[in-house]
Amino acid sequence: MGLYATMMDAIPEYTGLSPAAFFTIAALMVVVYKVVCGMFVAAEDYVAVKKANNYTLREPVQLGDVTEDELRAYDGSDPNKPLLMAIKGQIYDVSRSRMFYGPGGPYALFAGRDASRALALMSFDPQDLTGNIDGLSDSELEVLQDWEYKFMEKYVKVGQLVSERTSTEQTEREDKMQDTQNLEGNGSTPI
Ligand code: HEM
Repeated sequence: MGLYATMMDAIPEYTGLSPAAFFTIAALMVVVYKVVCGMFVAAEDYVAVKKANNYTLREPVQLGDVTEDELRAYDGSDPNKPLLMAIKGQIYDVSRSRMFYGPGGPYALFAGRDASRALALMSFDPQDLTGNIDGLSDSELEVLQDWEYKFMEKYVKVGQLVSERTSTEQTEREDKMQDTQNLEGNGSTPI
């Protein structure tokens, strides 16, 4: 008798299952194993991720007026800049929640943006990544309000969105950012 036939005879004898049921259960066990393994990170991978994310958490810096275009630069792609996000035109420093908003984070798409509409609608649609809240219902505005309260409580407000700024303000702000970068190491907390 060939190996295949021997196996087909042995499976019901030893397991009480038909060969089809046996292989289905075996396949399911492999899938469950893979899924469960995927939920954990190997120690060496964890260290690699920590190294890749090696950045310094600095004290929030007040930026004052910022345009939407300028805000984009604070989306976490530059580790030397704070991570900023706006709600209803108010800009918050969300650097302490880099795991949410930093590159690769589940809410990275909100960083460097006014995400009011997306938050009100609980939407990840790129079209909703805007501060435009026209046409929202009362309940959607209420959801947005709750988000705003959460952000006011958890993060430091560092500025507000404006459509345009004067060139004097621009220079002052750049000087301020330069000063903070020069102060690196003083009052900054490595995490
Ligand atoms: C399956 C759906 C979702 C699940 C299971 C989920 C889960 C979570 C969890 C566990 C947190 C961490 C909470 C904390 O520790 O403070 C969180 C935070 C957050 N979620 Fe979701 N979420 C979901 C959908 C959404 C959607 C649709 C949005 C908006 C479009 C959203 C926006 C946020 C934001 C902005 C934060 C961070 C808040 C902060 O900075 O503290 N989530 N979510």
